[in-house]
Amino acid sequence: MDKFNIAIDGPAGAGKSTIARLVANTLGFVYVDTGAMYRAVTWNVLRLGLSPDHTAEVIAATERMEIRLAPGENGQQVFVNGQDVTLDIRSAEVTNNVSQIAAIAEVRRNLTVKQKQLAANKGVVMDGRDIGSHVLPNAELKVFLTASVRVRAERRYKEIQDDRTDVTLEQLEAEIAARDRMDESRETAPLVQAPDAVLLDTTSMPIPQVVERILELCRTEVGGGK
Ligand code: CDP
Ligand code: CDP
Repeated sequence: MDKFNIAIDGPAGAGKSTIARLVANTLGFVYVDTGAMYRAVTWNVLRLGLSPDHTAEVIAATERMEIRLAPGENGQQVFVNGQDVTLDIRSAEVTNNVSQIAAIAEVRRNLTVKQKQLAANKGVVMDGRDIGSHVLPNAELKVFLTASVRVRAERRYKEIQDDRTDVTLEQLEAEIAARDRMDESRETAPLVQAPDAVLLDTTSMPIPQVVERILELCRTEVGGGK
């Protein structure tokens, strides 16, 4: 088997994007970060000064915007209407509003169509919250990555210390837990482990070990990869 699709889902800070990128690089596959697409929509809503509560306006703005993903030196680059927003979509303001925007069914429908198109030719590692359960239900391999909320918060804390000196580890843990709750409880395509996904708890697993385990699953479950 040459090309196949891998769906990687899980909560914030589980290691999805780091691991998905490494697996994609090893296999020579394309990495697609769907969280970046929801972040791009949220960035656009905030830029336009719209309230995330005004659902009809958010949907209309989402239909008008163009999102483009491109492979970059440090991972995936994101463009909105031609503007590079790769760094802007990681702001605390976007992070704290994204789950509300991602709960809007029409926004999800719009992005899901794009995500399915990106994976149509196979050879894609896609990460998100609903990839195995909803976007790519026929993905050849599905992985659900998780880790304790404390460890996930510690990982994020290490990453953002330079940017957000105002935030404590406890606040970050509460923010992550609140985002998980919103993502798990929304009506449309919530964060859930697909019944046929392999669960990997990475609480005490270093990154190379997780990557190796997924490459092994490619060999044993799909009969492909390296
Ligand atoms: O990287 P991090 O775990 O902080 O989040 P992300 O993958 O960038 O996703 C940001 C947010 O987008 C999530 O908290 C979800 O609300 C939403 N999202 C989603 O609803 N469905 C996806 N397939 C991907 C992200
Ligand atoms: O995409 P997601 O929010 O699931 O997580 P990430 O952004 O890939 O990972 C969050 C942080 O945890 C990164 O700094 C990773 O290097 C780190 N990490 C880790 O230390 N051990 C793991 N097994 C997975 C990720």
